[in-house]
Order: sequence, then C-alpha cells, then structure tokens
Amino acid sequence: MTKKVYIHTFGCQMNVHDTEKMYGVLLQSGYQRTESPHAADLIILNTCSIRQKAEQKFYSELGRLKSYKKIRSDIKIAIAGCIAQQEGNNLFKKAPYVDYVFGPQNIQVLRSIAGKRPPYSALEENPDIELHDLPAERDDGIKAWISIMYGCNNFCSYCVVPYTRGRERSRPSENIYAEVSQLAEKGYKEITLLGQNVNSYASDVDFAGLLKKLNGIDGIERIRFVTSHPKDLSLGLIHAIADLPKVCENIHLPLQSGSNAVLMRMNRGYTYEGYVNKIGALKNVIPGISITSDIIAGFPGESDDDHVQTIQALKEICFDGIFAFMFSSRPHTRAAAYENQIPEDIRLQRLSEILKLQDEITLRKNKAIEGSVQQILIEGTSETDKQSLMGKTRTNKVVTILKTNIPKGSLIDVEIVKARKHSLEGIPLS
Ligand code: SAH
Ligand code: SF4
Ligand code: F3S
Repeated sequence: MTKKVYIHTFGCQMNVHDTEKMYGVLLQSGYQRTESPHAADLIILNTCSIRQKAEQKFYSELGRLKSYKKIRSDIKIAIAGCIAQQEGNNLFKKAPYVDYVFGPQNIQVLRSIAGKRPPYSALEENPDIELHDLPAERDDGIKAWISIMYGCNNFCSYCVVPYTRGRERSRPSENIYAEVSQLAEKGYKEITLLGQNVNSYASDVDFAGLLKKLNGIDGIERIRFVTSHPKDLSLGLIHAIADLPKVCENIHLPLQSGSNAVLMRMNRGYTYEGYVNKIGALKNVIPGISITSDIIAGFPGESDDDHVQTIQALKEICFDGIFAFMFSSRPHTRAAAYENQIPEDIRLQRLSEILKLQDEITLRKNKAIEGSVQQILIEGTSETDKQSLMGKTRTNKVVTILKTNIPKGSLIDVEIVKARKHSLEGIPLS
C-alpha cells in the first residue's frame, strides 16, 4: 500500500516553501500526500524557532503526537526546520518517540528516508548548494515561491536564523532561471524570490542582474522578492526595480527600531537616518511604491526614549503596513545575554502602542488610493468572503471584487471604491 505523508508547517514563507520541497521529494519517492495526520504513515513537523511562541506551538504539537504513536507504533515522526537544527539530537531525548531529525539544510535526506533506521538525524551545515535544488510540489498554479539563496551572515543580535540556516549561499542564476521558466510554461504568473537578505545575492550576477534575467521570461507577469536588508539596498538596485516592468512596486524593508542606540546593539549595520535616506530614494525613483516593515518592541535596554523614537519613525515614514513583535530572547543569540531585559508587561504595552498607531496609518494609506485604478492578479475566491474574488495590486494590497466568471490568474484593472484596514474593495473596469 502507498505510504502517506502529512506535514505540519510552522513559521515563515521560507518554511512554507521548504514544505513544498519536502512534499515534492516524497511524492517522487512514492509517498502520497494526506491532509489528515491520522491517516499518515509519516508525520513531519517543519518547525520555526524565531520567537518563543513559535517554539511553544511546536512543543504542544509534539506532545499531541505521542498519543498517535501509542495507537499506531508503525507511524514515523520527523522533526524538520529551524528547531530541528537548533536542538539536534536532544530532540530524541526530549521525545523518544521521534524517529528522524533533519535541519533546513538537509531536506534532501527525505529521498531515502524509508531506508534510514531511527533514531536518525541529518544536521550537517552548509551541504553542497545544488542539494537544495529539490522538486517543489506547489498547489497554487498561479503564484510560486523560489529560493534564490540560503542562510544568513548578518547575525543580528536577536536572531536565530544564522544558527539554524547556516551561512549565506546564493543559488546559481541559471538554476533559478530554469526553475522560473518551467513555472512560466506551466502557466504561473507571479513569482516571489526568497532569501533572508536578497539584496546581497551574489552568484554570476548580482540581485539587480538576476531580476533583469528573470524579467525576460515570457508568461511571468509579476516578480516580487523578500526580504530586503536596508544596509545592502543600493541605488543601483532601486533603479533596477524601477526600470524592470515585471518587478512590482513593493518592498519589505525591516526597520526594527527608530533608535540608533538600539539599532547598533541589534547589529543592524545602518542608522535611522541612513534608512530614511533609502526610503526617500525608493519613493523618488519608484513612484507609488508601497513599503512595509518589521518592528521589534522592547529590545533589551530599550528606554522610553528609544521607544518614542520608534513611534516617531512610524509617524514620519508612514509604512503601508508592518509586522511588529515583542522581543523574544532566543538561544545562542547575543541579545539573550544583554543586560536590562525589558519586563513583559512593558514590551507588551509598547507593542500595542505600535500596532494601534500603525493601524491608523495603514487605514489612512489605503484611503488615499480610494478612487484610483489598480491592476490586480486574481488569486481565487476570497477566504473571508466566499461571495468575492480576491486579487492583489502590484503594491501587494488585497482587493476583493464581487464574484464573476473572471478566471483565476487573470490580470484586470479595478477601481478602488472602498478602503478598509486589511483590504480594499474594487469594481472591475471592463
Ligand atoms: N531576514 C529578514 C527577516 C527575519 S525574521 C530580515 O532580516 O529582516 C522576521 C522578523 O522577525 C525580523 O525582521 C524581526 O523583526 C523578527 N524577529 C526576529 N528575531 C526576533 C526575536 N528574537 N524577537 C522578536 N522578533 C524577532
Ligand atoms: Fe535574522 Fe538579521 Fe539575518 Fe534577518 S538579516 S535573518 S534578522 S540575522
Ligand atoms: Fe523562518 Fe522561523 Fe526559521 S522564521 S527561517 S522558520 S526560525
């Protein structure tokens, strides 16, 4: 009988895409995908370690799996992703019912996982980059994520990623080109290039060169990328984004804090003034660009004044949207050992203030495009309103329109008739 695999994914887009690769490899090796853990012969938890909350979610799920194994002892349990890399063989001690542990740099071991005798782990750092070229099993058909680089060298003092994903390596541009070309042939319209710091992509070409190459692929209509690091965003790249018609007018550029003292202790490699200059260049060179960001509230040693500087920064820059998080102390990181850790109630209070302010700004920014005409790519039925279709603008804003027979994957022009905090309402022009 065909074996079935179920994967539970935690964490970022990179992890979601890694899950697509895991399914891809396992389907090639004869497994079938199931949406029910009860029906699975192999359960993989693809884990995230970025904040304590993500880790807690994983451990409660891991606890649940113990009972599965009691009912069916032949079931195999694998831990993948960033916690797998961080905890390694300790996971076998913490949960003796775990069979396999492999990190994000070793997904290729799934090719022969059925032949491995538990407990088995694969935690090698920086294996050959070509090993990451795995067949992704994507279900969308319109939008696809593509890895262009792995790992991170920045060692921001709060962050686990350099410890879990290893050193930065860029995938050869011809491999990326080949993957995107195949997706275009299958009818994909939008690609999102993935890396922790895409601006420092360095292969036979730099990131601007890569964008230029991919812009030439027929059938692909939109190119997006995450994440950009402010310190590596050059004027040359800003012009490339402006000049290449398929590259969308949208950038996610994490600021983290508006205080230079905090940025310094975060090891971010830029000042607030330097960041604001880049925002100025982006807005000048790319008219209508939308800019989103990440903010950390309550970093160790953050004074009331530092926090006020972040609030000021949000008011000055007016991001289209942000993700904001309470600082979370993480294993191995330098910030975990910093003095003056901020108590949780203050971190929470600062976070709510940030989120409340940004909500007002986001709504205002959305209101500003009421009445404008925007091109949207139809992604299918809206998840929140089954009577509507959902699409995104080039600036990555969600637009809903009343359901019609417009097929998924169409690019249409809509007039924005109403702005809300999290979405816009549009009416198709033709
Ligand atoms: N490579 C990207 C994103 C990494 S993780 C970048 O450099 O911006 C996504 C976001 O999680 C980060 O931008 C940061 O805001 C947040 N984050 C990372 N570690 C954190 C921690 N220890 N506590 C709170 N937030 C954290
Ligand atoms: Fe983490 Fe900084 Fe690397 Fe982003 S750039 S992944 S925040 S270390
Ligand atoms: Fe992503 Fe979480 Fe790892 S955010 S890189 S899965 S720690």
